[in-house]
Amino acid sequence: MQRLTPEQLRSHRWYGTDSLRSFSHRARTRQLGLAAEEHMGRPVVGILNTWSELNPCHIHLRERAQDVKRGVWQAGGYPVELPVMSLSETFQKPTTMLYRNLLAMETEEMLRSYPVDAAVLMGGCDKTTPALLMGAISMDLPSVFVPCGPMIPGSYRGEVLGSGSDMWRYWADSKAGLVGEEQMRGVEEGIARSPGHCMTMGTASTMTSVAEVLGMTLPGAASIPAVASAHNRMAAASGRRAVELAWQDVRPSTVLTAGAYADAVTAVLALGGSSNAVIHLVAMARRSGVELTLDDFDRASRTVPVLADLRPSGAYVMEDFYLAGGLPGLLNRIADLLHLDRPTVAGCTMGEAIGGAEVHDDRVIRERQDPLSAEGGLAVLRGNLAPDGAVIKHVAADPRLLAHTGPAVVFDGHRDLMRRLNDESLPVTADSVLVLRGAGPRGGPGMPEHGMLPIPDRLLKEGVRDMLRVSDARMSGTSYGACVLHVAPESHVGGPLALVRDGDPITLDVAARRLTLDVPEEELARRRAAWTPPATVYRRGYGSLYDAHIMQADQGCDFDFLQGAGGAPEPDTE
Ligand code: FES
Repeated sequence: MQRLTPEQLRSHRWYGTDSLRSFSHRARTRQLGLAAEEHMGRPVVGILNTWSELNPCHIHLRERAQDVKRGVWQAGGYPVELPVMSLSETFQKPTTMLYRNLLAMETEEMLRSYPVDAAVLMGGCDKTTPALLMGAISMDLPSVFVPCGPMIPGSYRGEVLGSGSDMWRYWADSKAGLVGEEQMRGVEEGIARSPGHCMTMGTASTMTSVAEVLGMTLPGAASIPAVASAHNRMAAASGRRAVELAWQDVRPSTVLTAGAYADAVTAVLALGGSSNAVIHLVAMARRSGVELTLDDFDRASRTVPVLADLRPSGAYVMEDFYLAGGLPGLLNRIADLLHLDRPTVAGCTMGEAIGGAEVHDDRVIRERQDPLSAEGGLAVLRGNLAPDGAVIKHVAADPRLLAHTGPAVVFDGHRDLMRRLNDESLPVTADSVLVLRGAGPRGGPGMPEHGMLPIPDRLLKEGVRDMLRVSDARMSGTSYGACVLHVAPESHVGGPLALVRDGDPITLDVAARRLTLDVPEEELARRRAAWTPPATVYRRGYGSLYDAHIMQADQGCDFDFLQGAGGAPEPDTE
């Protein structure tokens, strides 16, 4: 194993050379209150912290950073905390997805422009995980990810509440007149009871699990509840490990191999994970120079069983998963499907990381012969309505809708949807196909999580709880229902979704992986010729940069100029 000398550390160029700049950097570090012997010759570990008072999922991260620092000091490093943008899924509008690439850019540039030898990436709320990892991949600096951990289970009158999933369910029941105001207040009080990310297998739990299976965390890190003392210990251990990663110069490019990405796809499917993982993993893989496509997900989905019985597809929540053995327990159950010889940031192989991991509760982490679903939870659809693909989390949908034809009811954007959905004159039945367009990467903008279109109140009162819905939007990982998502190309750039009219028959056939608009091609050609592109909403600023460079969902929604790694020179420190 190679080991750098203090003079070979990247930070040496800032602190250790015989130059006016180094002199200034040393003087300014004394200004920070540190004597030379406290930091000189030590690896500088940048702790990229996405704490914010508008991000309740990360509200413990400022305190948790102290544990990371403890670990860094213990291992002989020099910790520096670097606050970065917090993407708060709940509060940030129009959608955090609009800003994922901005945080990725910030991460990359913070690491590049400062004297950092290794990074500890602290995040977990949905887009923060892929964003931090994408930045670290492109900078290719030794990095370890510290997941913020799931919150404790929600609770209302003895009933376990799951983030997102039970909010949608109670909201639908209240609109159907089945639950009253007092009950809704109880749910409001009980559904989010501690720091930490959503505790269902939503996007946050999926993506932190992805970070772990990719080999970018310490073993078991992703399943530890945010408030467990094991979480403090994991943070400190990650700090210690970051120092070692700096000395050994173990970079993301060493860890993030094609095998690592293949295993991440397998794990997402076995977890019944979020459809958002498809977009993020494609984007991350492209940064790593690994070819990963929607078809890779679909191929794996046909053979990988869903073993995690977690909401929204199953019954349990993340604390149950942790106590049942967590991600290492689940991965050990599918070890024969994984690449076990690949390295991880923990200093061991993936096989060693999960070897010996046990499952303590087969109800939560199912046995191979008793899966929640024999097939993976995601299907990739193609057809004349989605030439570049679309995704459905069919394991969380009403099975009767998985082979369905119905007339389209079309909405042009979310505002139009909210304005007309409950219009008494809307010609909608339980068999209709609700279509939302103008909600893709450019049209949204930011591809908001509007893909679980609400069911009209009138139908809710009739007892309808699922309908076929089709959009170029995403949906929350905690959502459920027969929602066809990520239709590509999106309508805003002239994808076929732009051509759908009210009453057009649409057919979904999940078994055949088909999504079709059953309208003659000559008619579609006429509509296409008459179509005019919508105006862009941004005239300046980040929005216009986003609009000019965002790629489509099947390509991961990265900016075209951010794909890959390297390509930027190290800054001159003299
Ligand atoms: Fe932060 Fe769900 S709102 S993870």
